[in-house]
Amino acid sequence: MTRPRVFIHTHMSLDGKIVGAYLPTEVGVASQRQYYELVLGPDRAFDRHKGWLCGRVSSDDNFTHYRTPDLDEAASPVPDGDFITVADAPMYYFSVDPSGVLAWETNSITYFETTAHVVEILSGRASNAYKDFLRRKGVSYIVAGGNQLDLEEAVRKIGEIFGVQEIMLGGGGSLNWSFIRAGLCDEVSIVMTPAADGTKGAQTLFEANERYATPLPTAFKLKGMKPLADGSIWLRYDVIGPIPKAGG
Ligand SMILES: NC(=O)c1ccc[n+]([C@@H]2O[C@H](COP(=O)([O-])OP(=O)(O)OC[C@H]3O[C@@H](n4cnc5c(N)ncnc54)[C@H](OP(=O)(O)O)[C@@H]3O)[C@@H](O)[C@H]2O)c1
Repeated sequence: MTRPRVFIHTHMSLDGKIVGAYLPTEVGVASQRQYYELVLGPDRAFDRHKGWLCGRVSSDDNFTHYRTPDLDEAASPVPDGDFITVADAPMYYFSVDPSGVLAWETNSITYFETTAHVVEILSGRASNAYKDFLRRKGVSYIVAGGNQLDLEEAVRKIGEIFGVQEIMLGGGGSLNWSFIRAGLCDEVSIVMTPAADGTKGAQTLFEANERYATPLPTAFKLKGMKPLADGSIWLRYDVIGPIPKAGG
């Protein structure tokens, strides 16, 4: 099976920030609602996916809040391979957590009106104790790669296990950029909020995390733009790839 199509879907401020004080304002919340409707609402524009993928920091910020998982270091060895507890959930939340550190309390998350079953995406270095912890919580997991997480294998496995042809990548900036650099992202969909807060150094749509990816000029091709009801703009780009130097 070829890998599923991957699209980044993000909401950001006028100045390209994906976090900040503009978010919990009236304008920010109205724009996030538009963002949600496009991918998870009843009349969604993207309707071939079964959930979204996020990086470890996004999961900690939004759901697990930097708690420490309750590990049993003396747990019996768990069977090798993947562990899927819910094979037919309407939506999944794929959490990229190579070392296995996120302290889930339950095996689902809720985002607006959507409930999604949590699937941890682990590398081969996640410990037996952590996998035992996930099993006790009923959280599914997929192992991709050895000591380093293999993003391509993770995407392919999600497609095979859950029968999906499309995956939404929900951020943050580090994971977004790693997917672009790895050639694993086909489209970027942006809901641009008509607000900004001017915070210096706040995280942007793409961030090259030095542990995982390098910066590189990259081209995108506009494929659509549409004003939304609240004054946000929905922008869609195809990913083209690295740009050669002018005159080179
Ligand atoms: N506006 C939006 O649409 C939106 C959407 C999502 C998130 N956010 C915000 O973005 C912020 C988090 O973004 P972030 O960039 O700091 O973190 P992130 O992309 O959510 O997570 C990065 C982490 O994912 C893990 N990872 C595994 N393989 C990776 C790879 N190949 N490349 C990159 N990361 C990999 C690493 O975890 P380890 O450190 O454990 O190795 C890495 O530190 C949060 O504040 C969140 O709220 C905004």
